[in-house]
Amino acid sequence: MDGFSDVLVGLQYGDEGKARIIDMIAGNYNIIARFNGGPNAGHTIELNGKRIALHQIPSGIFHPDMLLYIGSGCVLNIEKLLAEISEVEGLAGGLGGRLHVSDQCSVIQPHHILLDSIEGKELGTTGNGIGPAYADRANRSRNILICDLLANPDKSVERISSYYCAVARAYGIDGNDSNQKAETVVSAAQAIAGFVCDDTLWLEGLAYKGNKILFEGAQAVMLDVGRGTVPFVTSSHTVAGSAYVGGDLPPKYHRKTFGVAKAIMSRVGNGPFVSEFGGARSEEYCAADRGKKHSREFETAHYAQKALLDSADFFDIGIALRMLGDEYGATTKRPRRIGMLDLVQLHQACRMCGVDELYINKFDCLTDLARTRLQGIPVVVGYELDGRRINHVPSTLDEHRKVVPIIEYSPHIPRITADNYNDLPTEAKQLIGRIEHTTECRLAGIGIGPERDQFVAIEDDGGFGL
Ligand code: IMP
Repeated sequence: MDGFSDVLVGLQYGDEGKARIIDMIAGNYNIIARFNGGPNAGHTIELNGKRIALHQIPSGIFHPDMLLYIGSGCVLNIEKLLAEISEVEGLAGGLGGRLHVSDQCSVIQPHHILLDSIEGKELGTTGNGIGPAYADRANRSRNILICDLLANPDKSVERISSYYCAVARAYGIDGNDSNQKAETVVSAAQAIAGFVCDDTLWLEGLAYKGNKILFEGAQAVMLDVGRGTVPFVTSSHTVAGSAYVGGDLPPKYHRKTFGVAKAIMSRVGNGPFVSEFGGARSEEYCAADRGKKHSREFETAHYAQKALLDSADFFDIGIALRMLGDEYGATTKRPRRIGMLDLVQLHQACRMCGVDELYINKFDCLTDLARTRLQGIPVVVGYELDGRRINHVPSTLDEHRKVVPIIEYSPHIPRITADNYNDLPTEAKQLIGRIEHTTECRLAGIGIGPERDQFVAIEDDGGFGL
C-alpha cells in the first residue's frame, strides 16, 4: 500500500505559527520532514516545563514515535544542530533512530556566516549564512555536502579554513582562527554522524511502504527566492511544490496542502509590506541597528500601550499590536513589522500553493483593535496602483512599493470565549466568511489564544463563505 504526503506552508512573511498547527495534526502522520532553509527558521516549544527554541530540528519531537527528516534541500549549521540535539535529548530522551539528516544537505561554513554578516545587512537577513551557502551550492564552488565532509574530514578542514581565509582577507578581517573554526565544524559533523542518512531513497521507501509524511515548510511564500518579494526574500524555495524537490520525495505521493496565516500579519527584515501599520516609517524603525534598537525591552520600557491604542496614527497602533501580540523574532529577537490582514496577498498565496485548508492563527488578537478608535477591523481587500484597482501582488519591487491598500472595515469582534464555531461572535463569523470568499479557500480553523486548546475548528460547509 502506498502512503501519502501533505505539505504545510506559511502563506505570508513567516512566523505564522506553523509549528502550532503541525503539533495539532502531527498525530495523523509517521514522519515530519523539512525541505528548505536552515537555522533561519525558528519555533519555540515547551518541553517538560522548559521553553526551548528549535531552528533546524523539525517540529513533532513531542510525539515519541514520530520520525523526523531533514531533506537535501536544507542547508545546515552543524554546530547549532548538535547543540539543539543535545538540548532536546537532555529533556526528552534520545533522538537516535528518530532523526534522519540527508547526507546531501550543504554545510553552512564559517565564510558563509561572515559573508552574510557583511552583505546581508541591506536585506535584513537573519545573519545565519543561509544566502551565501545556497549561492555556493548553486555556483558549485566552495560547496561542501555532509557526505563529503564525513568522507574526507582532513581535506574538509583544509577547504573550510582556506575559504574562510580568502573571504576574511577580501574584507580586511583577521583570519587567524580559520583553522580552529574549520575544525569545530568538522568535529561537530562527526558528532552527528549517527543521524546522517546515506540512503537517498529513505523517505521514498517509507512512503512506498504506506507511511504518512507531513512536510513542514520554513519561512513563507512571500519569502520564496523566486516568487516572493525579490530581492527581500530568503534564498530557498518556500512554495508548497518545492517540498518535493528539497524533501526528496516524488510528487506522486502528494495528497493535500495546508496553509497557515496570521490574522494580524508580521514581517521581519526589510522589503515591501503593503498593509504595514505605519508604512515606511515602521520599516525603518524596526530595522534600526539591525533590529537591536527597538527590542521588546526597549518598547516595554518606553511606551504605554493604552496611549498607543488611543492614537489616531497607524504607526503607534502597530507598536501597540506588536507589544500585545509579543511579536519579536524567535531567532534574532528583532521587532516584527506589523500589518493588517491583507486578503489580496493571502488569496495569491493560496492560489500559488494550491491550498486545500487554510488556518489562521492569532484570530483573538483582532479583538485588540476594539480598544482603538478605529471604526472597525481594517482589512485590505484590494490594491490601487497608479490610480487603477488591481487584485494581485505586483512582481516588480517598484510597483509593489507603490501599491496603496484599499481598506474595508469589518465590525469589531468582542472577546472570544467560545471553543466551537457555532458559539463564535457573529462579527467573527462575518470576517471568516469574508476571508473564505476573497481567498476562495476553505478556512479549517482559527487560533484564539496561545494554549493548545485555544483553537476553533471549522466544519467544511462546501461554500467558501458564500
Ligand atoms: P535569510 O533567510 O536569513 O537569508 O533572511 C532573508 C529574509 O528572510 C530576511 O528578511 C529575514 O528576516 C527573513 N526570514 C528568514 N527566515 C525567517 C523566518 O523563519 N521567519 C520570518 N522571516 C524570516
